[in-house]
Amino acid sequence: MKMNPQDFVAMKGTKPIPMLTAYTCPVARSLEEAGIPVILVGDTVGMVEMGFDSTREVTIEHMEYHIGAVRRGAKQTHIIGDLPYGTDIDPETAFSNAQRLIQAGADSVKLEGANVQVIQHLVKHNIPVVGHTGLLPQTAKNFKQVGQSSEEAKKIINEAQAIENAGAFMVVLEHIPYALAGEITEALSIPTIGIGAGPDTDGQVLVINDALGLGDYWPPFSKQYAYVSKTVSKVAKEFAGEVESMTFPSNIIPLTGTNGR
Ligand code: KIV
Ligand code: NA
Repeated sequence: MKMNPQDFVAMKGTKPIPMLTAYTCPVARSLEEAGIPVILVGDTVGMVEMGFDSTREVTIEHMEYHIGAVRRGAKQTHIIGDLPYGTDIDPETAFSNAQRLIQAGADSVKLEGANVQVIQHLVKHNIPVVGHTGLLPQTAKNFKQVGQSSEEAKKIINEAQAIENAGAFMVVLEHIPYALAGEITEALSIPTIGIGAGPDTDGQVLVINDALGLGDYWPPFSKQYAYVSKTVSKVAKEFAGEVESMTFPSNIIPLTGTNGR
């Protein structure tokens, strides 16, 4: 059963929320099979799948393409689509871009920062919104932790509160001190989803490539549950070796193994 925004709000203080990103159909299908209640099609796609140095290269068309693929793999899962850099500059622009993401298959959209007017406008037009504060990759100069000084901490608390007041149903807290994330989680009545924000949030999100060990860099606050890049190299080497030694394909017809799932 697909979860709606109210279901996530009801989970606050009751059941921790596990969120993963996905960008492709087969990965989305596996996440749905695993019972992950919410998939984020993040603009991290630009970095972890497309090889760009920042998320700023990602366009609305890229997001539509990936949201469509994820929806085809996970028909019963709540999908959040990221509004990429520059697509939420004013309420009208944000609304037409958000409509495109919804049309592509998203159930809600996420945007960075306490952009109160934009959030209010989307919510008024029935587009559920997820907020995002703390480290904001679209505009940050680097990926260092933010919120260490008391002024910065105060600013992030105020932003989180403003995001809730504007009508968002959930908020991502990225790379802030653990105590600050705990404080915000207690102050808000919508669920907080942490990434590099410690254990005291209502849920956790990981970039799927980081969790899979797929890529050549993983942030220190992430966890590798597997090392898929190594598996890919191993498979490629084995395949190349078998072609060179003419042992693949063999003349023995395989009886099984046509459906790995
Ligand atoms: O784009 C993304 O994957 C994100 C998460 C890191 C929260 O915004
Ligand atoms: Na993002």
